[in-house]
Amino acid sequence: MSRRDSSSTRVALTCVGALLLAACGDNESAFAPDGPQAALVANLWWYMLAIATVVWLLVVAFLAYALKRAHARKQALPEPEGEGKMKRAVTVGFALTVLLLIINLVYSVSTGRAMATLPRDDALRIKVVGHQWWWEAVYEDPTPSNQLTVANEIHVPVGEPVQIISTSRDVIHSLWAPNLMGKKDLIPGYTTATWFQADTPGVYRGQCAEFCGHGHARMAVLIVAEPREKFEGWYRSQLQPAAGPTDSIVAEGQRVFMSGGCPICHTVGGTRAMGRLGPPLTHIGSALTIAAGSLPNTRGNMAGWIVDPQRIKPGVRMPPNSLSGPDLQALIAYLESLK
Ligand code: CUA
Repeated sequence: MSRRDSSSTRVALTCVGALLLAACGDNESAFAPDGPQAALVANLWWYMLAIATVVWLLVVAFLAYALKRAHARKQALPEPEGEGKMKRAVTVGFALTVLLLIINLVYSVSTGRAMATLPRDDALRIKVVGHQWWWEAVYEDPTPSNQLTVANEIHVPVGEPVQIISTSRDVIHSLWAPNLMGKKDLIPGYTTATWFQADTPGVYRGQCAEFCGHGHARMAVLIVAEPREKFEGWYRSQLQPAAGPTDSIVAEGQRVFMSGGCPICHTVGGTRAMGRLGPPLTHIGSALTIAAGSLPNTRGNMAGWIVDPQRIKPGVRMPPNSLSGPDLQALIAYLESLK
C-alpha cells in the first residue's frame, strides 16, 4: 500500500469512526432525537444522506462504465450516432438533477415550517440570553415574583413543548441541544424564537454552535427534562432566596464572598450580592456543573475554578483569586451551602 493510500484509508476510517460515535446515541447527538423537533431534523438528514449516496453511486458507476468503454475503443473511429446518444444522456441527467433539487428544497422548507410552528399557545416560555461565555435563562411569568433567572442549566417538564425566546448581550451565539432541537442563533439587539420538547426524562447537553470568542468551546448548557411534578419542585426551590449560614465555616465563607470581588459580578438572592456580569449563584450548590458545563460541580473543581479560572476556561472574564487555604475552604463551604 502506498503512503497516499494508507493516509486516505486512515482519513476514511476516522470519518466512519466519528459517524459511529455520533450515532451511538449519547446525550448530545443529532442521531438520537428525543423530541419532535430533533426528529424532524434527523429525518431530513437521513433522507438527504440516502439521496446523496444514491447519486454518488450512480455517478461513480457511470464514470467507471465510461472509462471502460473509452479504453476498449481507443483505436476505433467515433460513431456518428454517438453524439445524439450523448445529448440525450446529458438532458436526462440534467432533468433528474433539477427534479431532485426541487424535492430536496420542498422537503427542507416544509421541515423548517413544521419546526417553526408552536403546537400550544400556553407553552412554558424561557428567555435565553447568550453571554460571553455562559447562558442566562429567564422563565417568564406574568407575576414578577414568580419569574425565575438561572444559568447554564435549564430544567423543563418532559413531554411538553417549551418555547425559547433568544437574544444575546454581546456577540452572536447559537443554542444547540442536538437531541432536542436544531440550532438557533442568539443575536444581539434582536429576538428570535424556537421551541422544543423532550419526550424522555434525562439530562441533555447543549453547546454554543457559533464561534463567539475565546471561551466558545466551553459554553455548554444542560437541559434537564423531568416529570412535571419534579420540575415544579425544582422551580419552587430555585425561586427561594439563598439560605442563610447555618454554621461558622459557612458564615466565614459568606464573609469571604461578600468582602472579595464576587458580589460585583454575581447575584446571590436575598443578599447584597447583585452583580449581573456573571451567572447568578443563588443555588450554585445544587448545580450539576460549573463554568457553563466545563466541569462537574465538585469541591476540587470549584477550588481550582476559584483560584485560577483561566486554566479551566481560557478567556473567561472571571479574575484569579489568591485566597489563603482556610479562606478558600470556607468560601467553598458557603457556595456548597447555596442549594
Ligand atoms: Cu457562544 Cu460560541
